[in-house]
Amino acid sequence: MKLPKWRKLRTLALLFCAITVTTFLFTFTFWDPSSRFYKHPFHLLASSKGQCACQQCMTELEDDDAWFTERFNLSVHPLMTRDNSALSDDTFNWWQWLQSESRPANFSEVVDELFQVIPDEVLYMDAGPERCRTCSVVGNSGNLKGSQYGRLIDSSHFIIRMNQAPTAGFEEDVGSRTTHHVMYPESAIDLDNATMLVLIPFKTLDLQWIISALTTGTVKYTYVPVKSRIKANKDNVLIYNPTFFKYIYESWLEGHGRYPSTGFLSLMLAVHICDEVNVFGFGADQAGNWHHYWEDNLLSGAFRHTGVHDGDFEYKVTQLLADKHKIQMFKGR
Ligand code: C5P
Repeated sequence: MKLPKWRKLRTLALLFCAITVTTFLFTFTFWDPSSRFYKHPFHLLASSKGQCACQQCMTELEDDDAWFTERFNLSVHPLMTRDNSALSDDTFNWWQWLQSESRPANFSEVVDELFQVIPDEVLYMDAGPERCRTCSVVGNSGNLKGSQYGRLIDSSHFIIRMNQAPTAGFEEDVGSRTTHHVMYPESAIDLDNATMLVLIPFKTLDLQWIISALTTGTVKYTYVPVKSRIKANKDNVLIYNPTFFKYIYESWLEGHGRYPSTGFLSLMLAVHICDEVNVFGFGADQAGNWHHYWEDNLLSGAFRHTGVHDGDFEYKVTQLLADKHKIQMFKGR
């Protein structure tokens, strides 16, 4: 059957309109001008509000998030670079007071020398709708014993461990991968070539220590004897920014304790550089003592009082973050 000419024209016009509208809708929905790529449709399914590409995003706000937004500040960089290394007088004085030194070296000269040894790069500040960075933060609590969390911990992109934490012999409970190991000179251990060493400096001498431990080995003592050399890849060394340290103490701990624990500082690093944060191995015992998963009992001196840290307050804040779905807490046994 032959269609009349006007019906042919109408069909063509309708077809043209349909193609134009579909193209417009596709481009509007999937084109990401910031990356100059089309977004994979899965990302839209995974995160309806598009803050990141995970199921749950750190920066995605819920209705009752005032407590979180009052504290969370993405403008303070967690890691030190040459550019952000200058400290305000206020920050410098607070930081110097943490573990005061009798004759500290000149801070900016030490920083200058530091970045001749380690890279000066801005890392991890790349949050956006394309990114889904999952992180496991592994504290050292004895509650990891018998937890069988190993595979779950290892399944994140970043696995952040700290201080003396071993994995060998404990893989089923704590996993075997480590991407970042957070430490300070007095808690330092050797690392493999691929692991990022995150140094928390408490004093200028700690910056001199890392320079020395990676090169000449001359710094052997801080307030106790320390490792004079460390096995680590000097291209994989990151420095926790003292300005960020103070922000965590003031905004998140509201000045509780003398200063935050390694665990809390590591958790907060993750909160600021990851989209999804899973937390393992946090929790003192009922008497407020910290014990470690690799130590046996009271006789080995495994239980220590949380000392300069306010373990209770830190735990309360951590629990609140979990209640508000910012992190997921795995409480072990
Ligand atoms: O004892 P250590 O400081 O090496 O442990 C690392 C971190 O793990 C602590 O700073 C603390 O935040 C956390 N921890 C804990 N409960 C324990 C032991 C450690 O919350 N029983």
